[in-house]
Amino acid sequence: MTGNTRITIHPSFDVLAAATASRLITRLLDVQGERGEATVVLTGGSVGIAALSAVAQSPARLAVDWSRVNFWWSDERFVAADSPDRNAGQAAAALLDHVDVDPARVHAMAAADVIPDLSDAVSDYAGRLAAAARREWENDDDAPGEQVPAVPRFDVLLLGIGPDAHIASLFPEMAGIRAEGAPVVGVTDSPKPPPSRVSLTLETINSAEEIWLVAAGSDKAAAVGLGLAGANPVQVPASGARGRVKTLWLIDQDAAAELPADLIRGEKE
Ligand code: 6PG
Repeated sequence: MTGNTRITIHPSFDVLAAATASRLITRLLDVQGERGEATVVLTGGSVGIAALSAVAQSPARLAVDWSRVNFWWSDERFVAADSPDRNAGQAAAALLDHVDVDPARVHAMAAADVIPDLSDAVSDYAGRLAAAARREWENDDDAPGEQVPAVPRFDVLLLGIGPDAHIASLFPEMAGIRAEGAPVVGVTDSPKPPPSRVSLTLETINSAEEIWLVAAGSDKAAAVGLGLAGANPVQVPASGARGRVKTLWLIDQDAAAELPADLIRGEKE
C-alpha cells in the first residue's frame, strides 16, 4: 500500500454503513470548520446509499450545516429523472430530502429526459464542474497565477466497488477507464445495467483530497484483493483510485477475505 492508503475492516455491512456515515459527518464538520463549506462526491451502489441513510438517522447530522455542503456525483445512470435507478434519486431518498441542503449546491448529472443526448449530458456536467472550479478559483486568494482547474475541490469522494473492480462507471478494459484529458465521459455499454451512464474519469476522481472506497460482501473480495495488490487500473479500476491526501478502503469482513494477512495485520496495528 502507498503511504496514504488505509484499510478499515468492519464486522458487517450495517456497521460499515454506520461507521462510514459517522466518518462522513466528522469529515464534513472538519472541512466546514476550516473552509466554511465542504464538498462531497457521492456514488451509487448498496454501501454508498446505505451510508447516506445512516447519516440521515444519526443525531450528529444536525451538527453539519447542510446548506453549505456541495454535492456532486461520481457517476449516474443515464435514465429518466424519475427512474428508481437514478443515483441522485436514491441519494435524495436516503439523505438529501431529510436535511436542509441548498438546491443550488446539489449538482446531479443530467437525466435522459432532460438532456436526451448522452454526449450533451457529458458536456453539461463538464461545464458545470468547470464553472464551479472557476468560481472557487476566483474566490481563493491563495490561487493567483495558478491555472484554473477543470473541477472544483472535492473534499471527500465516495466510490463503491463492483465485483469486477469497477468504480463509478469505469469498467475493466473499457474506454472509460482509459479516458485521459477529459473530466467526464459517457458510457453506452455498461456491463452493469442500465447500459448508458455518465461518469467522472479516473483523473478527475483522483483530484479529490480524500477517496473512500466502500465495499461489502464476499462477491467483492476478489476485487478488493486485486485493488489493493497494485494491479493495473485498466484491468482493475479500483486499483487506480488514489486520493491526493488520503485513500481509505472501508470494507466488511467478507470483502476482506482475500486480503493477505500482512495487509490485514497492518490495518489492525
Ligand atoms: C453505480 C455505482 C457503481 C457501484 C458499484 C457497487 O452507478 O452503479 O456508482 O459504481 O458503486 O457497482 O455497487 P453495489 O455496492 O451495489 O454492488
